[in-house]
Formats: sequence, structure tokens, C-alpha cells
Amino acid sequence: MADWTGVAGRRVVITGATNGIGLAGAKALAARGAQLTIVARSQARAAGAAAQITAAGAGARVDTLIADLASQASIRRLAAEIQDRYPRLDVLVNNAGAINSSRQLTEDGIEMTWAVNHLAPFLLTTLLLERLRQSAPARVITTASDAHKGAHIPFDDLNAERSYRNFGFARYGETKLANILFTAELARRLAGTGVTANCFHPGFVATGFNRNNGPLMNVAMTIARPFARSVEKGAETLVWLVDSPQVASESGGYFVDKKRATPTDTAQDVEAARRLWEISEKQTQAVGVPS
Ligand SMILES: NC(=O)c1ccc[n+]([C@@H]2O[C@H](COP(=O)([O-])OP(=O)(O)OC[C@H]3O[C@@H](n4cnc5c(N)ncnc54)[C@H](OP(=O)(O)O)[C@@H]3O)[C@@H](O)[C@H]2O)c1
Repeated sequence: MADWTGVAGRRVVITGATNGIGLAGAKALAARGAQLTIVARSQARAAGAAAQITAAGAGARVDTLIADLASQASIRRLAAEIQDRYPRLDVLVNNAGAINSSRQLTEDGIEMTWAVNHLAPFLLTTLLLERLRQSAPARVITTASDAHKGAHIPFDDLNAERSYRNFGFARYGETKLANILFTAELARRLAGTGVTANCFHPGFVATGFNRNNGPLMNVAMTIARPFARSVEKGAETLVWLVDSPQVASESGGYFVDKKRATPTDTAQDVEAARRLWEISEKQTQAVGVPS
């Protein structure tokens, strides 16, 4: 396909579409005629989401792929399956993410929040880059957050052995900073290929976010809920970044409410972005590294 006239008829792979911002975004994209593939870690949740998305898309077919984004082996299988199934990949949306109030390690020996929020988008995107390039114009969109404000990448403590604090919020902020740095470096590396990379902050949205951290956090999220926006509103910038011809030549951007925004100075540190990329390459080759 040549010029970008919208998402209708285009293959979109989206993670984290079983709930919250991803599910609302997937429904809106299905309604616009996208050919959707959702990635989920549970077959039952995938089927439930697909039924809702199909209904929103007036019967649109939704493909489901199963992968646990905490596992690098699972991400590798997922990337292979995507490449087997789809000769074209027009949009990859790295939306899945979570906060964990206590530190856990993945099967790869990586701290869980870092693995799911940063390394999973990094690994999935880099494994699919050739397919995206062949499909140009193509787009990579990552759900970041204003929670990056005040965060720094702990280059001397990448697995957060010493720096896990504030019920996981500090770590979460680091991963969201990593999303922005990853997007900037990806855009730099993809310049001139027709593949763009952008990320966004959805606002504070009433989702399943932080509902996995016990009764205290559940109560806190319930109290905060009246101040949160709807999932539809939270997904608006995601949908716009996927669909709109207006952003065809935007790359490396951080967007809030469908406008280009300026992230923190740390998030604009070109050297940190380059360093993070190189470290992420090493971390995604490492399997079974002890903590
Ligand atoms: N909510 C907010 O206010 C807010 C603000 C800024 C940024 N964000 C970002 O928005 C994105 C979406 O979050 P949300 O707020 O919509 O939360 P959510 O309702 O909890 O949805 C998170 C999604 O990620 C999936 N996921 C989590 N861990 C996974 C794993 N290991 N493998 C595969 N899928 C996994 C979940 O799948 P399951 O159904 O299997 O759990 C779910 O579909 C995240 O990146 C988050 O950091 C949210």
C-alpha cells in the first residue's frame, strides 16, 4: 500500500488488548476496519476480548495469538508466528504493561516490570523489524506514560536489586522512561525506511492497572477512580497514532492528547537512548541468567 489513508484493511498487531486502554483501542480500530491481531497470555481472556472487539467492529474478524510477554522464549515464538501468518505487518502496538508492588524475577532472571514493560516491546519490535520494513509505510506505537517524570535508567542496577521502592512505582517510572528512549532510538535507526515509531501518554485511565497488587492497592485504585478518564478517552491518542494520515511523517515523538509533547530532559538524552538499546540487546540474548 502506498500513502497512508487510514487503518482500514491494514494488519495491526496489538498487545495488552484483553483489558483497559488496549481493549478500548482495539474496539475503535476494528470499527475503522483494521485487520486486528490481539496478543494475550490467556486463551480465555483472548477469546472474551475478541468477541467484544468483533461486536464493536460490526463482525470484523479478530485473530488471537497467545504469548506471555514476561518470557523471552514466548516472545520469540510469537514473533515467528506473526511472520508465518502475515506477509504484511502495517502496525505494531506495544501496549501491554503492568506495575508490580513487589520485586519478582521472570524465568529469564529479569526483574518482571522491566521485562514486560520495556524488554518485551524491545524484543518483539526488533524481531519484527524486517517484516515492518517490507510493509512500509508502517508504524510502531508504544504506550508510555507521564510516570517517566523524575525517573532515570538505573544503569548500575538494571535488575533493581537495590532500587526497588515505593511499591514498585519507581521501577514502573523507569520502564516508562525506557519506552520513550526506546522509541527515540528506534526512530533514529529507522529514519528513511518508511517505518515510524511513536509513543504516547494516555492520561490517568480507569483500567485494571495496579489491580494485581493486593487489597490495599485495589482500594487505592477504587478511591482514585473518579479522577480517572474513561478507557475510550484513554485510547484516543493510541487510535489516532495508528489511524491518522496526519502523523504519517512523525517519528520519535511522545504524544499526549493527540499533540506532540515534550518529555523530560532525561527522556531526550540521546546517549542514554543509545546505551539502553545496546544493553537491551544484551538482555534479550541472555536466557536463564541468575538474579
Ligand atoms: N491506566 C493508566 O492510567 C495508564 C497511564 C499511563 C500509561 N498506562 C499504560 O497503558 C498500558 C495499558 O495498561 P492499562 O492501564 O490498560 O492496564 P490493564 O487494564 O491492566 O491492561 C494491561 C494489559 O496488559 C496485559 N499484560 C500484562 N502483563 C502481560 C504479560 N506478561 N503478557 C501478556 N500481556 C500482559 C494484560 O493482560 P491480562 O488481561 O492477561 O492481565 C492487559 O491486557 C500499559 O503499558 C500501562 O503502563 C496506563
